Amino acid sequence: MTRQILVVYQSRNGATLQLVESFSSGVKSASELIDIELDIVERSALSATSADVMNADVLVIATPEHFGSMAGATKVFFEEIWDDCLHQTQGLPYQLIVKAGTDGAQTIEGIQKLANAQGWKEFRPPVLVVGEITELARESAFEIGGLLAVSLDSDLI
Ligand SMILES: Cc1cc2nc3c(=O)[nH]c(=O)nc-3n(C[C@H](O)[C@H](O)[C@H](O)COP(=O)(O)O)c2cc1C
Repeated sequence: MTRQILVVYQSRNGATLQLVESFSSGVKSASELIDIELDIVERSALSATSADVMNADVLVIATPEHFGSMAGATKVFFEEIWDDCLHQTQGLPYQLIVKAGTDGAQTIEGIQKLANAQGWKEFRPPVLVVGEITELARESAFEIGGLLAVSLDSDLI
């Protein structure tokens, strides 16, 4: 059975998208090694729907921090899916990827509160990248992708 990873992202200037690309490469590279069938469905935050979330085995939210909280488009995503998903997606594993200029903490806190209210379960602590995207930052996103693929394969999530 093909498992589905939904990646909901917002990226105005491309930095968050670079982390999404590293994450997806990590998923693909691990899934080739362990021979699991995985679909990565990438949706911009303004186009993702509650049906996308309900069809997903795992949700990845990738967002920049804007004005001390998640990007506006990411908030629109939550508004869009909120009612439909409430009580329907409990236990959904999710992974957060945050790109910030100087901080990022409030974005993480805000999204964790919403995810908790939906009953979603954090897969691993958020990948937070502050400032320049370094090789280490790319590797962190890549490794989380690989770990997610292996965990799905082992039915750990
Ligand atoms: C309108 C705007 C508001 C921002 N507000 C914050 C902020 O409150 N805290 C922070 O750490 N970075 C802030 N930043 C920096 C972005 O989070 C950072 O540049 C990020 O890499 C942008 O990601 P993107 O290239 O995927 O759009 C802001 C950037 C913009 C454009």
